[in-house]
Amino acid sequence: MSTAAPEPKENMGKPEPRIDGRLKVTGEARYGSDFPVANPAYAFLITSAIAKGRIEGMDLGEAKAVPGVLEIFYHENSRDLKEIKYRPGGGGPTSSIQDFGPEIKYGGQIIALVVAETFEAAREAAHKVQVTYHAEQPSATFDSSGVSEEDISKQKDVPQAGDAEGEYSRAEVKLEAEYETPPQHHNPIELFTTTCVWQDEELTIYEPSQFMYGLKANAAKKMGIDIANVHAVSPFVGGAFGSKAQFSPRTGLVALAAKRLNRPVKLVATRDQGFTIQTYRAETRHRIRMGAQRGGKITSFIHEGWEVTSRPDSYSVAGVEDSARLYGFAAVKTRVSLVHADRNTPGFMRSPPVVPYIYALESAMDELAIKLKLDPVELRRINDSSTDATGKQWSSRSLMKCYDEASERFGWSKRSPQPGSMRDGDWLIGWGCASAVYPTHVGAAAARVRLTADGKARVQIAAHDLGTGAYTVIGQIAAEELGIPLSSVSVELGDSNLPPAPVAGGSNTTASACSAVMKACEAIRSKLSSSRPASDGRSAEDKSTIGSSAGARQPNLEESFSRLGVGAIEEYAEYLPPGGKPDTIKNLYAGTPFLTGGSKGGKLMYATGAEFVEVRVHALTREIRVPRVVGAFAAGRLMNTRTARSQYMGGIIWGVSSALHEATEIDRREARYVNNSLADYLTPVNADIQNVDVILVPEKDDFVNPVGVKGIGELGNVGTAAAIANAVYHATGIRVRQLPIRLEKLL
Ligand code: MOS
Repeated sequence: MSTAAPEPKENMGKPEPRIDGRLKVTGEARYGSDFPVANPAYAFLITSAIAKGRIEGMDLGEAKAVPGVLEIFYHENSRDLKEIKYRPGGGGPTSSIQDFGPEIKYGGQIIALVVAETFEAAREAAHKVQVTYHAEQPSATFDSSGVSEEDISKQKDVPQAGDAEGEYSRAEVKLEAEYETPPQHHNPIELFTTTCVWQDEELTIYEPSQFMYGLKANAAKKMGIDIANVHAVSPFVGGAFGSKAQFSPRTGLVALAAKRLNRPVKLVATRDQGFTIQTYRAETRHRIRMGAQRGGKITSFIHEGWEVTSRPDSYSVAGVEDSARLYGFAAVKTRVSLVHADRNTPGFMRSPPVVPYIYALESAMDELAIKLKLDPVELRRINDSSTDATGKQWSSRSLMKCYDEASERFGWSKRSPQPGSMRDGDWLIGWGCASAVYPTHVGAAAARVRLTADGKARVQIAAHDLGTGAYTVIGQIAAEELGIPLSSVSVELGDSNLPPAPVAGGSNTTASACSAVMKACEAIRSKLSSSRPASDGRSAEDKSTIGSSAGARQPNLEESFSRLGVGAIEEYAEYLPPGGKPDTIKNLYAGTPFLTGGSKGGKLMYATGAEFVEVRVHALTREIRVPRVVGAFAAGRLMNTRTARSQYMGGIIWGVSSALHEATEIDRREARYVNNSLADYLTPVNADIQNVDVILVPEKDDFVNPVGVKGIGELGNVGTAAAIANAVYHATGIRVRQLPIRLEKLL
């Protein structure tokens, strides 16, 4: 595959290399646990060996005798920690289950923290704590006895339009199918870490985070201290994918330990603990019914979903919100139910609603196309629509443009539709496609920008670069707005002393942060232009008049500054999306983000894409390979074609993983995870990934937000699993409706 960054097309920014790239490759970038702190003590977690029941006793004697052990914190001596109200998503606590015992509500629940002079001593002691449990029979997942089902359709106000049941029963062609997706864990390479340092009444927390102000506010609540006394630091994050968005009970325990011991405490949780101390993607089930006219027009779409969650918390992703709107269905009926089991509360995982729900929809679309004897692309074209079943308009929609560009590049017209009809020796060839879609979100944010007379700018915002390129694109918007080169801009992120950004969820960071930065830059421009003599006639709107990199009319920054009698201009700006209230920014400072978009508001705001894959299934061994994927995506303005391509490519690779590899296996008797290591939790390796071709489709949408950015972090891995399942069917004639598709399902 080509490694060159794509040439920018219309409404696309330059492929600037990452401004933090050098720091990263030289190891100078500081991640949470890299910060040097004076005289740290080291912590090791103990997690529950049962999923349901009670701790009857904890014998700490042998553990405390390990040389270097300082203290062991557990339910008996951690009662100072306050309970934080659970709110699903949005940067609150991971779960309402925040106690360290004695009640056990899920396997792997944190029950103690051992603190010692060294990591090794803490680990040794942790293994010497003798815990006796009274264990009860847990309910693990769907179909386990003792689970309880809750229909949340009303609370979620899921889409309904027209008489979908009636239309379905009258339809000329009907499809009914059920699909399943497994539990998955994010497994970011950077482990979950927390380092806490107290200085008098002030707490500093170094922890990888997708929400600086949430971490700060929740830690203050947990400790019962003033929010002004907490400082959260996380300039770099080694992958997150949603797992670092919520506040974990471990952070409170580490903060408490540091306070009691009057010494910095550092925790790096182990890989297996990472499977239970944060959130995960829960398993889902889907029943889809579609009715269509013989020509292909879909008259009825009925999507029912089931998702697993913990006993107490109603966390759901409810992706019917999106599946019901992707095409111009004449009538729609949807329903979402939760199944409460003895499990930890799930949470965001990259493309939370759409990964499972669009997998189901896009598999069903392929099945319906086959019933209708239509090409699957044509079925989508027939049902392409700029309004949904309720009459809501898309702000912009380039779905079929994506299909056209990707199918052309892929060579789709050469496909022979009959399953098993394309073959290369012992390899059965299958070609499949599916749509990608992701709701556009934008959140309230604030930023500070300082421009000095020498043409250098500094941008400050507590946004998060999860490895996505946020530093670079935030720098690019300032460079562009101020008319200076990117090399003259420094960007500070990931620190709660900076102006707040929303939780880095729902792919909103670029839209939100850049909108705030743009406003601050506009204020600087207007100050500079106010310094000009009246005869000048240039307005603040004219970016070409500012800075040194702009075109023919070289401005004189120093002159403007000296006329103003200052050496620097610093502007703070707040961006409030439509629907924001006067106290929205105040709430953001207090740790409650305001996010809007998707199907909320007057128009439907979505980024779209089309993915085409070739699979090869070995006729005898049933080994499945994916030699090539072509994805075309449209997401409004792209800030940087290099980082955009990387995001899409990473998403597609994760989609391959979802289709063929990833699943967290549950021991149904014990309600515990079996494959909780990177050796056993399957993900693709380089040899599994061959050609991944990304096409950037130009799109302009001034409605979505001031910068016209739709967000791309979670678009690429939507649809890939369905495209692969569809291709596997085309190769073999076997329809697999449960992910992942492993070779035993093709025997
Ligand atoms: Mo993203 S999974 O919405 O943090």
